[in-house]
Amino acid sequence: MKKIIIACLWCCISLFAGYAAQDTPLNITPAPQEMTVKSGTFALTPQTSLVVGRTQRADLQKVAAYFQAKINRATGYDLAIKNSGNHNCISLQIDRSLKLGDEGYRLSVTPKRVQVKARTPQGLFYGMQSVMQLLPPQIESEQPVDGIDWTMPCVEIGDEPAYGYRGMMLDVCRHFHDVEFVKKQLDIMAMFKMNYFHWHLTDDHLWTIEVKRYPRLTEVGSVRHNADGSIHRGFYTQEQIKEVVAYAADRFITVIPEIELPGHALAALTAYPEYSCTGGPFELRNKWGVEDNVYCAGNDKTFEFLENILDEVIPLFPGKYVHIGGDECPKKRWKACPKCQKRIQDENLKDEHELQSYFIHRIEKIILEHGKAMIGWDEILEGGLAPSATVMSWRGEEGGIAAASMGHDVIMTPSPWLYVDAGQGAVEAEPIAIKFAIMLDKIYNYDPSSEKIPENLRHHVLGAQCNMWTEYAVTPDYTEYLLYPRMLALAELDWTPKEKKDYNSFARRLDSQLVRLDMHHINYHIPLPEGPMANRIAFTDQTTLTFHNSRNYPMVYTTDGSEPQAGSTRYENPLTFDRNTTLKIATLLPSGKLSTTRTLEVVREPLMPATDQATQPGIERRRTEGNLYFVKDLEGAYWTEPQVVKDFSLKTSGDEKGAYCYTGYFEVPADGIYYFSSEMDELQIDGRVVISNDGRLVRHSHTRNSIALQKGKHAFRLLMINNNIGGYLRAWNNKGFIFAPEGGTLALPDPATLSH
Ligand code: ACM
Ligand code: ZN
Repeated sequence: MKKIIIACLWCCISLFAGYAAQDTPLNITPAPQEMTVKSGTFALTPQTSLVVGRTQRADLQKVAAYFQAKINRATGYDLAIKNSGNHNCISLQIDRSLKLGDEGYRLSVTPKRVQVKARTPQGLFYGMQSVMQLLPPQIESEQPVDGIDWTMPCVEIGDEPAYGYRGMMLDVCRHFHDVEFVKKQLDIMAMFKMNYFHWHLTDDHLWTIEVKRYPRLTEVGSVRHNADGSIHRGFYTQEQIKEVVAYAADRFITVIPEIELPGHALAALTAYPEYSCTGGPFELRNKWGVEDNVYCAGNDKTFEFLENILDEVIPLFPGKYVHIGGDECPKKRWKACPKCQKRIQDENLKDEHELQSYFIHRIEKIILEHGKAMIGWDEILEGGLAPSATVMSWRGEEGGIAAASMGHDVIMTPSPWLYVDAGQGAVEAEPIAIKFAIMLDKIYNYDPSSEKIPENLRHHVLGAQCNMWTEYAVTPDYTEYLLYPRMLALAELDWTPKEKKDYNSFARRLDSQLVRLDMHHINYHIPLPEGPMANRIAFTDQTTLTFHNSRNYPMVYTTDGSEPQAGSTRYENPLTFDRNTTLKIATLLPSGKLSTTRTLEVVREPLMPATDQATQPGIERRRTEGNLYFVKDLEGAYWTEPQVVKDFSLKTSGDEKGAYCYTGYFEVPADGIYYFSSEMDELQIDGRVVISNDGRLVRHSHTRNSIALQKGKHAFRLLMINNNIGGYLRAWNNKGFIFAPEGGTLALPDPATLSH
């Protein structure tokens, strides 16, 4: 009941208060091309019927049945599907004479009836999604919701998409995501009129699709031994693949399989090492990054193997496209492989880049023989683009611009804009991710049709796609946290023409769309309270904390250790503390839902006294051997090879076992509070653990702390264990620690101030 009251409250707020002057108070997302709001409403009742005309078209009946079931779940109404009717009905009508594209629709809502017209069932499906969005958001509920007024405002809409390709890519190789998860995302994609699901099925880290002819691909290739001893596994049977493809098709979503080659192939090569240059043996890669071992381009048997795989995989996917990867293929093995070198000679190729192009051309032929079109990442431009290829531009826009300018079709998926594996907020507030601060408006404002593409060739831009890589997305919840709500911004930039896009309008409508996502139990991101540089705030006399969030929502907080609720004290002004406090603060959505809580420990502490000990320039670095992982593994360690070094610049490979320990002194210029961060395993200052990353995946100075220090020299001890935590090597991180006075920019200590 509480939920319903909140929802009704929200409806009132959004209808009467929260919209911009130019914007209509409706929430259809992506925004329709043309919409005129009329007076009056249409009320959905148990007697409302779905009218499909006298057609026997099964595809049209199916669209009606899809929405009949959906409406039934939320309202409990069992709407009849009829051949005729003019009153209290939702009429679905195919009209081939409409001057619209095949995905377009016209929607008219009057008090008497709702009428959707389109040239195709897909257009009707989108028209009906707009009808759903005219109804209260609870229409998306999986269970009947009582007490909702199922009415919609009268409107006239004429709508069609700006782009024919509106996609989302999911990587299921870094972290596997099961069929239920995939279906859940397809439901959401369909709500927002997206039509391509790009399924990244194979990589160095997992092979996730059953191939009956090569059973070891899944027996061996779908089981990864992580560095911490855990096992990560997962694959789809062909039956499951067919189930997902059919589920997507019911939602007018085409599934594009990606079978990566010639690089990103270690899972396959672990199972079948004979198709590599060296013959292996291999293990599935358990660290992120790019793998040197790739398919051997000099061995005809490699192409036979890939052809057999494609012959089995392609028929599972009825859509037009097959994605063959093509990105990040290091040339190291090919340079040293006699077979690959012989191929270069025999085929008169200039170098290994042309060998990559040769590889892709051969694969393209196989795909064309299946009557399909090939997509590859933008590296397929290397050494000459395959004649019919569609290019997916990911290393920025340049590849897409170049390919479109050559008359090839392109799909824009550029990083950083459309890489939704990056966090959508500040590093110190958000969970760990590959990058940070790729905000909703950055995605929203992305324009796929770069002005650098000659105008007469811009039609080669088929559309845009967001890419959900899952190195850091270790749970389905976190994957959703990264994907949403940014995928909705992607949906709008693909559908709504550029000149009609309006971020403020989108942000307003999003408040309603988030309630719809709630109905689907989507764990979307809510902007967190940001401002303080750490979650532990030291002070000596008093401190004042200022918060904001990226969408200017209200924030609520507590100081008694309890979890904030919607009715907790509102944050209005900076908060001043003069005693130890646990501050819990969260962002409040118009729906009454809260973000995750940000907990800050605000701690009074005396200035740590500086030392006046005489010291020498440079710091000490020692090493210890052993298969070490956690800080506790260093108990009783025998530290050897003491060296005096000037700074923290240490070149160490992640494959080398052991640990390093730095000790010495650094200086602070004045009494005060200093903020610290380190990507190493532990930082002690004056004998106190200030940063602990023990057993934690960390990068981007994610771990922060603050302490009170007296002007002068302070002792430090920094531990670096050569380990691989969550696929990220400590060796890839910056080796030292960084610090700054309150409000400053974190930076390495000046080597001139380091001593031992
Ligand atoms: C990619 O992100 N390597 C396509
Ligand atoms: Zn080779």
